Amino acid sequence: MIRDIVAGKIASLQRGEVPFHELDVPELLERNRERITFTTDANDVVGCELLFVCVDTPPTASGDADLSRVWRVVEELPALEGRPVLVMKSTVPVGTGTRVGEGLDARGLAHVGYASNPEFLSEGQAVHEFIHPDRVVVGAFEAADGDAVAALYEGLGAPIVRCDVNSSEMIKLAANAFLMTRISFINEIANVCEATGADVVKVAEGVGLDHRLGPHFLRAGIGYGGSCFPKDSLALKQLASNSGYHFQLLAAVIEVNELQKRRVIGKLERHLGPLSGKKVALLGLAFKPGTDDMREAPSIVLAARLLAEGAEVRGWDPVADAEAVLPGVEIASSVIEAVAGADAAVIVTEWPELRELARDEVRLAMANPLLVDGRNLLDPALTRAAGFTYEGVGRPGAAGAAAA
Ligand code: UGA
Repeated sequence: MIRDIVAGKIASLQRGEVPFHELDVPELLERNRERITFTTDANDVVGCELLFVCVDTPPTASGDADLSRVWRVVEELPALEGRPVLVMKSTVPVGTGTRVGEGLDARGLAHVGYASNPEFLSEGQAVHEFIHPDRVVVGAFEAADGDAVAALYEGLGAPIVRCDVNSSEMIKLAANAFLMTRISFINEIANVCEATGADVVKVAEGVGLDHRLGPHFLRAGIGYGGSCFPKDSLALKQLASNSGYHFQLLAAVIEVNELQKRRVIGKLERHLGPLSGKKVALLGLAFKPGTDDMREAPSIVLAARLLAEGAEVRGWDPVADAEAVLPGVEIASSVIEAVAGADAAVIVTEWPELRELARDEVRLAMANPLLVDGRNLLDPALTRAAGFTYEGVGRPGAAGAAAA
């Protein structure tokens, strides 16, 4: 049983159409169609033993997590019998479980159990990661409620971390904050590489082979975006502030990320001078490949900065419907259309389709063959050999590349 308040989404799911782009989800739904009911009616959940809360928790004006959707779920719970367990999948501040428990009591639903079971899936590979999780975290007030949730995952063979509700909520926030810290760290290393002639791709390889550090989330680029990292970092920072603690490291991680998105502008200016009247193509607009999600996509900041400098901006993405969130940007239907007559093209999102970008057709279509590779997708030496002026992130210039 899947319930949502957005009738349009439920109607399209009922027709067998998935209202977002996510690998393997259409096939998964098709295979299990007979077993899933889609509804907008809150009363339909009567009889369910486990009720997963999967609502979004976007930032409020103060940067705290907006829990209004969570509260709406609690308010709309029908009279439930037996011992159903409300399971929190949404990312929430530490202390939310306690407050939801109080809310259930106030609604006369004290017999409903509560567990925190945070989500660690990433977009674009959610189905694979669901079946092969690194770990499952279950925090509960009552051991039996935790047992009921943990039992669901037993067949997956992943370690199951059992803990209290507060710690479970914190594990989720800390995991995301740590991943972001790694990204901002490698981005700062990349910036120092640019100033000193080192190659961040080699540096990340050499650092990541240390088993204590590991290779993941060391890809330098134009900063993280998405529906989770930006809002979760703010929410954790505010959670700390509200408790009287200044989370300095996280504040720096966020600031580095903001600056990282803007560094592309400096690179373009170094080659083109003032950007007023210059034509710039943004290639890849979604916040990462494999998704059509435009939430907090670096392309939004980049486009706004370029437009503010007076540049003409054209954008292309294979799946994202970006028009509404990129006012003033002309959306092209192909890479060639996006780069036609451009003074520069920026790889914003590393879609596999862009791996073959350094080809004659693209170079000849551009007014000036400048490629700024915001994701280090292309090989610098090969791209330069193909006649492009190439700028990556944290990669040596032409001389350094030749020496490599
Ligand atoms: C992220 C986490 O990876 C998930 O574990 C978590 O469950 C999810 O947030 C969430 O809280 O819901 P997601 O936002 O889908 O998942 O995507 P990521 O693959 O983590 O990428 C986030 C951003 O970081 C992207 O903009 C990506 O381009 C950037 N990134 C990632 C880098 O710049 N460098 C890297 O090395 C890795």
